[in-house]
Amino acid sequence: MHRSMRSFLFFAFSASFSLVNAAQLDSHRLNSRPSKPATGQRDADPFSFDIDGHAKFTFSQGGSAWLQSAPAFLYTEGKRFSAEDGSLKLDHQATESGADKMGTWTSQCFVYMAGSRSWKLCAKTWSSPAWPLVVFQQHYMNGTDGSAHDTDSVISGFPSFQIPTSDIGLGYFSYQGGQFGYKNLTYGKWIQGGGTLSGGAVGGPVTVFDQKGGACIMAPFSEFMSTSRELDSKGRVNWGVMGGVVSVPQGFIQQTAVYCGNAGINQVFSDWGTFMRTYYDKTDVYRKADLSIHYLGYYTDAGAYYYVKPEPNKTYEQTILDLKAFADLLGIPFRYIQYDAWFYPKGPPDSRGTMTWSATSDIAPDGLQYVYNITKWPVVAHNMWWSSKTPYAKANGGKYNFIVEKQKAIPQDLTFWMDLFNQARLWGVSVYEQDFLDVEFGTMNATQSTVDVAKTWLMQMGQAARATGLTIQYCMSNPRHAMQSLEIPAVTHARVSVDYRPGLDQWQIGVTSILAHALGLAPWKDNFWTVTEQPGNTYNMSEPDPELKAVVSTLSTGPVGSSDMLQHTNVSLLMQCCRVDGLILKPSKPATAIDKQLWQSVWNNGLGPSGQVWTTYSHVGHDWYFGIILAAGLTDDFKLSPSDAGFQFFNPTKVLRRPGQGVPDPLLADFGDNSPLTLTSRCTVHDFCMYYTSPVFTVGTEETQIIIYGEESKFVPMSRDRVSNIEVTGDGVYVTFQGTRMETIIFTYLFNGATVRRFLMFDNSGMATLSLEAPPPMSVRTFV
Ligand SMILES: *[C@@H]1O[C@H](CO)[C@@H](O)[C@H](O)[C@H]1NC(C)=O
Ligand SMILES: *[C@@H]1O[C@H](CO)[C@@H](O)[C@H](O)[C@H]1NC(C)=O
Ligand SMILES: *[C@@H]1O[C@H](CO)[C@@H](O)[C@H](O)[C@H]1NC(C)=O
Ligand SMILES: *[C@@H]1O[C@H](CO)[C@@H](O)[C@H](O)[C@H]1NC(C)=O
Ligand SMILES: *[C@@H]1O[C@H](CO)[C@@H](O)[C@H](O)[C@H]1NC(C)=O
Ligand SMILES: *[C@@H]1O[C@H](CO)[C@@H](O)[C@H](O)[C@H]1NC(C)=O
Ligand SMILES: *[C@@H]1O[C@H](CO)[C@@H](O)[C@H](O)[C@H]1NC(C)=O
Repeated sequence: MHRSMRSFLFFAFSASFSLVNAAQLDSHRLNSRPSKPATGQRDADPFSFDIDGHAKFTFSQGGSAWLQSAPAFLYTEGKRFSAEDGSLKLDHQATESGADKMGTWTSQCFVYMAGSRSWKLCAKTWSSPAWPLVVFQQHYMNGTDGSAHDTDSVISGFPSFQIPTSDIGLGYFSYQGGQFGYKNLTYGKWIQGGGTLSGGAVGGPVTVFDQKGGACIMAPFSEFMSTSRELDSKGRVNWGVMGGVVSVPQGFIQQTAVYCGNAGINQVFSDWGTFMRTYYDKTDVYRKADLSIHYLGYYTDAGAYYYVKPEPNKTYEQTILDLKAFADLLGIPFRYIQYDAWFYPKGPPDSRGTMTWSATSDIAPDGLQYVYNITKWPVVAHNMWWSSKTPYAKANGGKYNFIVEKQKAIPQDLTFWMDLFNQARLWGVSVYEQDFLDVEFGTMNATQSTVDVAKTWLMQMGQAARATGLTIQYCMSNPRHAMQSLEIPAVTHARVSVDYRPGLDQWQIGVTSILAHALGLAPWKDNFWTVTEQPGNTYNMSEPDPELKAVVSTLSTGPVGSSDMLQHTNVSLLMQCCRVDGLILKPSKPATAIDKQLWQSVWNNGLGPSGQVWTTYSHVGHDWYFGIILAAGLTDDFKLSPSDAGFQFFNPTKVLRRPGQGVPDPLLADFGDNSPLTLTSRCTVHDFCMYYTSPVFTVGTEETQIIIYGEESKFVPMSRDRVSNIEVTGDGVYVTFQGTRMETIIFTYLFNGATVRRFLMFDNSGMATLSLEAPPPMSVRTFV
């Protein structure tokens, strides 16, 4: 490290740990358990960031460089100005400082001249608290002109990172492409030629990591819709304004951040997400209020039985009424319905897209309001991009401001969205599903050649949704749309994989769910069939693993939406998601792929599992954690420790295997870093494995141990949506439940190793309590 360099030391767990993991710290304190190392080394050297007088910088950890800068550049007046060849001239340097809601910050700034235009670059860090994050800023003091050159590249580079030519033991993964970065998700070694990164519209956050728990996330920090990255021919990753932008307005500020930590990929994402959500005031208020996230729903989107296919010789109106009658008959508590692209008229082939967002009489002869009045089902309503022929646009004689191009149109008018959503409320719309976000952005010129059109489109949509009491589901979002949702409170959930097709692997949402969780969005897996054979389906396919699809939906914390043919729903399977009133019994966070699964994707060296291993937990009452482990598609055995699972902060010592396949009772085993759980190659996609952890409750005499399994008939046997509290006194364990009036459940626990099943019925208050004291007087020992 040169003396002239400014050096900033990150304290890996200082501020971020205390903010993000307040609950976890509480748990340590209340249980008086020592904190244990994570997957990696929690006590690893912190990351440091050094920048010299020419804006040359390095991120390093324990003396080894992780990320090294490449020279900054800018396109304007049709020319490339670069610090490398001196055409971009350093005018002066400045140190700026201040305070914002994240704390006190300092910026090292460099004012460059690109011809006659000033371009100021800054590296901003917070010192109190010392967030492990650097924000790189590009200030367009005089704007630019004649910048556009290639939509797949960038018009500016700062920060730029030089990928090393030799293997320094680091790998990367990147979210890129449609459906939340799922489509082109990529992994590789952090070495030139070690992998690919797609630029342009599809690019997204890049995470560089080691096999000890270290990870640095590079991602846009603001102006998400117009920030891109490219991998250039010199092996550099350049972040800046997207390549199609013709001119950048004076005063525009583009920002990219790098966030580093040692607590493992999942935890670093979670910490970064907490920083971003705090910075943008993205709360969970709208997510908590979104009916479609909390209750069972019925879907008619692609993959569904009734996708563009009503019942034979019936209208969609009649089909929906039949569905409602059928659900009532069988007591399936669907609490809302999703209408897909079938309900509204589209433009002609050369300008396909939504014409008017309302049902025509061939779809609903009596109107969708009539349907809503009968079903009382709130509606999740799909929309695609707008046809260039839409009569809403002023260019076509309508009332509203749209930018109209050859095939598509894009609204730039808050009043338009207000009117549209107010109208939609009348026919029951509760969630606006904006689909084809990637197509609308990636195939229009206005969205890609300006810094503000795409942002205005999404911000106005969000503002109107908020004002009219709707929430928004994003579908086919690129990472840029996903990140833009940080500024849009009404966006509550997003699709995180491609469309459902029976039997395809689109259920593998463990990695995209890491990003969704960070951004505060509920991941949505898409619809699924609960019965293998659906006679006459348009796909000519069958679903071999309905149970896995139901489990994945439930563990996601997003919507759970089935899509079977009338009379072909497996009700007992479906209801394992939920209470009898349709409330989904969720874990406390989305299930996500463990860090070692990502390691394995890069190095393929057996340090990680050979298939999908995802974990999550329920946080119940004040300080009790119940871990959940899902393993599927394994071809080799894998030994999972509590810290591999991300459970080190609640330190479970026992694990229970879900009963099934001839095993009538939950199987108990020790679980610790020295007694890992072996997930075997028998955990296939069809016969996937599920394990649950419980605290060990010791009551009465020291010998009495109680281990809770919970509701065996649910995928999440211990959920805070069911168990509101657990109280432990000297003589017993008292569990408080919430349910539906007259609902009965069976609650399972192990009492000194013996399986005990207790029946419970909810009274009018929807409350019930159970004492697990020793010996349980009302217990029923069941034999199978
Ligand atoms: C560029 O911006 C700087 C700072 O705002 C200003 O002082 C200067 O006059 C501008 N130059 C031009 C050519 O507009
Ligand atoms: C992204 O993935 C899709 C398939 O999901 C593929 O067709 C397309 O070529 C990929 N695009 C890039 C830029 O890698
Ligand atoms: C639908 O209508 C056609 C023509 O009226 C008839 O031939 C056919 O049997 C009907 N299909 C069903 C399933 O009712
Ligand atoms: C639906 O119900 C509302 C409120 O009762 C009523 O005003 C409206 O006329 C009904 N619409 C239809 C089409 O039945
Ligand atoms: C795309 O938009 C930019 C400005 O937004 C404009 O200068 C350019 O002419 C447009 N290109 C086409 C093909 O319409
Ligand atoms: C459906 O698939 C089966 C076997 O995959 C095939 O034999 C049959 O012809 C297909 N039916 C249609 C209508 O495509
Ligand atoms: C319904 O699901 C259960 C598993 O919960 C399974 O045992 C049963 O065979 C399924 N029934 C049908 C008709 O698919």
